[in-house]
Amino acid sequence: MAEKEVVETSEAQIAVHWQEEGYYYPSYEFVAQANMTDPGVYDRFSLDNFPNCFKEYADLLDWYEYWDTMLDTSDAPCWKWFVGGKINASYNCVDRHLAKNKNKAAIHFVPEPLEEKYEHITYQELYVKVNEFTALLRDFAGLKAGDRVTLHMPMLAELPITMLACARLGVIHSQVFGGFSGRACADRIVDSNSRVLITADAYYRSGTLLDHKQNADIACDLAEKDGQKVDKVLVWQRYPGKASSPTPMVEGRDYFVNDLLKDYYGARVDPVPMPAEAPLFLMYTSGTTGKPKGCQHSTGGYLAYVAGTSKYVQDIHPEDVYWCMADIGWITGHSYIVYGPLAICASTVVYEGVPTFPDAGRAWRIAQDLDVNIFHTAPTAIRALRKIGPDEPAKYNYHFKHMTTVGEPIEPEVWKWYHKEVGKGEATIVDTWWQTETGGFLASTLPGINPMKPGSAGPGMPGIHPIILDDEGEMLPQGAGKAGNICIRNPWPGGFQTIWGDRDRFVETYYARYCKDPNSKKWEDWPYLTGDAAVEAEDGYFRILGRIDDVINVSGHRLGTKEIESAALVCQEVAEAAVVPVNHEIKGKEPDLYIALKPGIEASDELAQKINDTICTEIGKIAKCRKVWIVPDMPKTRSGKIMRRVLGAISNEIDEGDVTTLANPEIVASIKTMVQS
Ligand code: WTA
Repeated sequence: MAEKEVVETSEAQIAVHWQEEGYYYPSYEFVAQANMTDPGVYDRFSLDNFPNCFKEYADLLDWYEYWDTMLDTSDAPCWKWFVGGKINASYNCVDRHLAKNKNKAAIHFVPEPLEEKYEHITYQELYVKVNEFTALLRDFAGLKAGDRVTLHMPMLAELPITMLACARLGVIHSQVFGGFSGRACADRIVDSNSRVLITADAYYRSGTLLDHKQNADIACDLAEKDGQKVDKVLVWQRYPGKASSPTPMVEGRDYFVNDLLKDYYGARVDPVPMPAEAPLFLMYTSGTTGKPKGCQHSTGGYLAYVAGTSKYVQDIHPEDVYWCMADIGWITGHSYIVYGPLAICASTVVYEGVPTFPDAGRAWRIAQDLDVNIFHTAPTAIRALRKIGPDEPAKYNYHFKHMTTVGEPIEPEVWKWYHKEVGKGEATIVDTWWQTETGGFLASTLPGINPMKPGSAGPGMPGIHPIILDDEGEMLPQGAGKAGNICIRNPWPGGFQTIWGDRDRFVETYYARYCKDPNSKKWEDWPYLTGDAAVEAEDGYFRILGRIDDVINVSGHRLGTKEIESAALVCQEVAEAAVVPVNHEIKGKEPDLYIALKPGIEASDELAQKINDTICTEIGKIAKCRKVWIVPDMPKTRSGKIMRRVLGAISNEIDEGDVTTLANPEIVASIKTMVQS
């Protein structure tokens, strides 16, 4: 614990020395058209009006039955919103838009290969496709409300179609990021007890058609070994009717969706009215211990929150073209490519591939072709685009009125490039701070109301009341200029309900730290611990400094250090593994891996490579380490704990501080020579 605290203070101290940046103001044109311009919204959503203020968001949706209780706290801290209400997410994202907008594009699908055509799926077509696939899920796969299904889909239009088909039946989908390995998929199949896996045979990534079907085979084999048999694998084909993957189909288990769909032509399935608090989906996220946490999101509360924030923060209007460049396999894609935008009848872009393929101008050409005017991405993508084509955006004739940054802190320098070059000085930017767990935004400026400040997310969202607590639980006053643990005082409808199958871990991870009375049924007693460190400026804007636990944020994706270390230990030769984050210009952070071998085993480059390869197979390429350092011994405290802080300092070439209290201080110099020479 002691060593963790040192990391916390030093990280916070670095950040607090940053200068506060000056304001940037949205243009008059932007404000004139914004969906929310009334500063009174903050009063309407004040704690005095909590929780009833959230009626405003719920009323953006169509309900079969209106709720009787806005917020039920009887099972604290598992909050229930809109209790008694009945709703269907698929109905709200599709059916209800048909009367006025059936000809409107719901999804613009952009394939990665340049020679392939864009696909424009209208709301009517989406309705047809969702219905037919729903019928297949119900009648062929035998799925019903409450069942869990694992999806391991790439960025194809079939992914939102699949999600909406599940939602239509009340089936809980659990989409695993397409770039994750078969092993990672297996773990999630087992944890959620899915007996159906929905996948695709292949997809394009940087010009290569990848064999994705092979991951399904690995996932099913490993899941079965761990006690969860998958009886059906439904495979969408990248090119319907054509084999794109050399991996054979397993007889009696694997089925091509497009073959089966022929039997469901013209089928229509009434959406199932679900209780507001029925789970809509699971989204697994890395924690500090090896096992990923299945964040369970509700139907009514979640949908109300993402619809409201899509309208007021993303500022999407019916005539806009909205492109969020995230992957649907992450929460950003669920909330702000699929559910939020479709709930408010937007046209949303789904791009299959890499934004820099085949060149630095690709993203801007897509924006130009589709006349995208609202753009949403992460600092890691912004850094990559800036690195390879700093002057590229100016070459293309697109105009963004609004842009988002999400997923990690953005350096003011990068923010300014985004504003000046990508936004051409015209776009209003929102820096949205939130988490997989929170379903939607926690802090952001409201684009038509608050000025922007590079590097700061902004104030808490209407109805979200953040506070910064020190280690003793004392509140740091606004403008204190000190970093602390940022918490949210109150529940909100988008918050996750629990960790799937592990309520104790949910309470322990997110609430135990600052809850004074574990028996309390009052929400006031349960501040939500976000796990981030932050400072609050005098103007009430929050600047997020990063995680206080040991999760590494690589390119905006959270990787548990423990997950990577456990993967390294799969190699028989490895005795100990320690992962530390290294600053990286583009990705934000990259893992650096330190390894101590079992006695008698020789270090070699081949072995280092094998360990890195193992991590890629176990977790996925995203977890690939910058470097695997095979060291003679780990620096350790006298109680035997690996001093990650010291390793982190060596990797980042900063002062490692006092090491004289270590059990083996002499090792530090030799590791330093190895790494820094
Ligand atoms: C970080 C992504 C600074 C933060 C939506 C959080 C941010 C973690 C921001 C959640 C931001 C997210 N500024 N940091 N605007 N947005 N983070 O679950 O550390 O993938 O706790 O959700 O990313 O990552 P997750």
